[in-house]
Amino acid sequence: MTHEYTVPGELGDPDVRAAEVPEPGAVTIVVPTFNESANVRQLLHQITESVPSRLPCEVVFVDDSTDDTPEVIREAARDCPFPVTVLHRDEPVGGLGGAVVEGMKAAGSDWIVVMDGDCQHPPSLVPELVATGERANAGLVVASRYIKGGSRAGLAGSYRVAVSRAATWLTKSLFPRRLHGISDPMSGFFAIRRSAVTADVLQPLGYKILLELAVRSRPRRVTEVPFVFQDRFAGESKSSAQEGFRFLRHLAGLRTASPVARMVGFGLIGATGFVPNLLGLWALTVFGMHYVPAEIVANQFGVAWNFLLIEHLLFRDRRRHRRWWDRAGRFALLANADLVLRIPLIALFVHRFGMGVLSATALALVTTFVLRFVGTEALVYLPRRGRGGLDGGRTAGRAV
Ligand code: GDD
Ligand code: MN
Repeated sequence: MTHEYTVPGELGDPDVRAAEVPEPGAVTIVVPTFNESANVRQLLHQITESVPSRLPCEVVFVDDSTDDTPEVIREAARDCPFPVTVLHRDEPVGGLGGAVVEGMKAAGSDWIVVMDGDCQHPPSLVPELVATGERANAGLVVASRYIKGGSRAGLAGSYRVAVSRAATWLTKSLFPRRLHGISDPMSGFFAIRRSAVTADVLQPLGYKILLELAVRSRPRRVTEVPFVFQDRFAGESKSSAQEGFRFLRHLAGLRTASPVARMVGFGLIGATGFVPNLLGLWALTVFGMHYVPAEIVANQFGVAWNFLLIEHLLFRDRRRHRRWWDRAGRFALLANADLVLRIPLIALFVHRFGMGVLSATALALVTTFVLRFVGTEALVYLPRRGRGGLDGGRTAGRAV
């Protein structure tokens, strides 16, 4: 459930003010917050100093805090000459990224700027991000630490710097085309056109919401503006080792989003199944089992291994349609059908089409592999839903 508060700014009724904001060239600043009560007042102060005189704005906080951040925001918002909204979530679905998508859904302006709530992202850059996007006719403007004029001065410690550099390198090499022209795909500070956000295809998972948007929403044109990553005003980073694992899962999910990439992953995982299969066969025959039943039992070791890897690496987000034993049963049936089907298929290729045994076997292997992949996609893990945008506009209660 989401609680929503709109604080009017100095001009009266909140809903009327909120409806006035979406004029061309205005901006909605989306700020995710998790226990930032010591920072939000300063952030609103900095925004007040540098944004409204250059660009009409509203601020939407999406808050998952367990402290009094929402109250502090509401209190501080009384001094702001623009509308401030706090969406407090009882369940922090998707973490930071999930919060940002919620904020984007509530945005009323043509441009959305996402920035952190701890003053590491200078608000004075907000008008420039939007102006650059307008000038370049871009859908996405990234504030980058890695182009001339930018720096990661405020990134605490050499460990964080090394991790950040490795993550950027890994991510860029996994998505060379989609991230072309983005030097800082890990940045949490960027401007995006509302029309470029396809909210329905987004599956945010943790910190890297820019990466999620660049890969799944694929904005038409991307440009960058340098920025200096500041020191945190107060408190500590909320990032953790657990967040690191979430990032790796996020990367795996993004990289296997296309059917071709999933098929390659499926094949690679399938190939690793030889190891438990052969180990099982060896163990069973050592204990005196005849090799024919041993083959059949050992094959199940390979099947179980493949099932576990596929569940966790490939279809993690597509499991909820069936119970685990239902999925395991279907998967095992398909995997064993593959074996049973292969011999008659080879016989067919050899006798009907006059193929040589080796080429017939190779073709049968490829055919049963593709059938198994397609069968697993369609019969075990149902496909995702289609594309959609932010066209529904503001969340309930905001539209007037
Ligand atoms: N709503 C919500 N929910 N907000 C969150 C959550 C969450 O689960 N986790 C963190 N936040 C908020 C924080 O309160 C802060 O306003 C912002 O997201 C960034 O979190 P930090 O914990 O300060 O992140 P960081 O400084 O370590 O990382 C920042 O810089 C990185 C670049 O090095 C972020 O901008 C990262 O996205 C960025 O990659
Ligand atoms: Mn921070």
